[in-house]
Amino acid sequence: MTRVFSGIQPTGELHLGNYLGAIRRWVDAQHTDDAIHCVVDLHAITVPQDPASLRAKTIEVTQVLVSAGLDPDVCTLFVQSQVAEHAELSWIMECTAAFGELRRMTQFKDKSDRTDFVSAGLFTYPALQAADILLYDTEKVPVGDDQRQHIELARDLATRFNHRYGDTFVVPAHDIPPVAARVMDLQAPERKMSKSVDSPQGTVLVLDEPAVIERKFKRAVTDSGGEVRYDPEAKPGVSNLLSILAAATGGDPEALAGGYSRYGPLKADTAEAVVEMLRPLQARFAELAADPGETDRILRVGADKARKMAGATMVRVRDRLGLPAI
Ligand code: TYM
Repeated sequence: MTRVFSGIQPTGELHLGNYLGAIRRWVDAQHTDDAIHCVVDLHAITVPQDPASLRAKTIEVTQVLVSAGLDPDVCTLFVQSQVAEHAELSWIMECTAAFGELRRMTQFKDKSDRTDFVSAGLFTYPALQAADILLYDTEKVPVGDDQRQHIELARDLATRFNHRYGDTFVVPAHDIPPVAARVMDLQAPERKMSKSVDSPQGTVLVLDEPAVIERKFKRAVTDSGGEVRYDPEAKPGVSNLLSILAAATGGDPEALAGGYSRYGPLKADTAEAVVEMLRPLQARFAELAADPGETDRILRVGADKARKMAGATMVRVRDRLGLPAI
């Protein structure tokens, strides 16, 4: 079995990009892989958060993951801050990463341009992400395309540490989906769909009601010229719709394009496919949301499992570094 680890931030509302780029693939792989999934609240606090809302979002994101089909009896599902080893290894990764390496991270550049207060944690964020991954001897990290550079950094840090101190970490690889690796904003298809960008009409939320999903697709920005063709460079809007339709129906975006001569039917079919895909998740979410105590219990069990694995790694890391055993 392949050891798989991935994480998701409990900020904003989960959207179609999160679902197609990550969550759905975690669900599909949980029975064949040895999977660990984490709600990364320590990553969330790299920008100021309202405590009550962070608490509520952490539970809600967990409920969405379980509603999507992640089975806490099959995989390990937990909240990052409940396993203190993440923060501990993060410091060691900060001491393994070079300043220049972190400065080259494109997500830092994007996010720091958009916030007034740029915390040191926002800068060292990828070192924490490397720690998340390396704590669990992870082989494969299923993520969307926007995380590619962070996973490459985790590989570099594992390799560097192993070289300096002897074999300690498994060197992980990213696992990026062939279709819908980068779901774009429906109103601005040159930019990825994102929790942190304010584009309510361009962002399809996994908990949006069917009528809302239909309206957002109906109003999606398309390209000039009425031809339906899969060409992300020249026709980003239409290509985004084709990718979403392909991911939702298991088809191929180029082949699907041949079935449409106008934008209207493509929008309508994509909306319908997304509504149907999300219907079971939304039904289960309504049940789970009624019992937050059960979610809390699931997370405690998950944190206990994760702590054992992370603790064993830290014994090894401390020993290699010359730090005393605890
Ligand atoms: P986050 O919370 O931004 O996103 C969670 C997952 O959703 C994917 N994703 C997308 N995929 C396709 N199209 C999009 N528009 C889109 N937007 C988001 C992301 O690629 C991700 O897989 N830094 C990470 C969380 C993290 C993590 C980790 C991931 C922390 N530690 C360790 C993997 C391993 C993040 O902010 O994801």
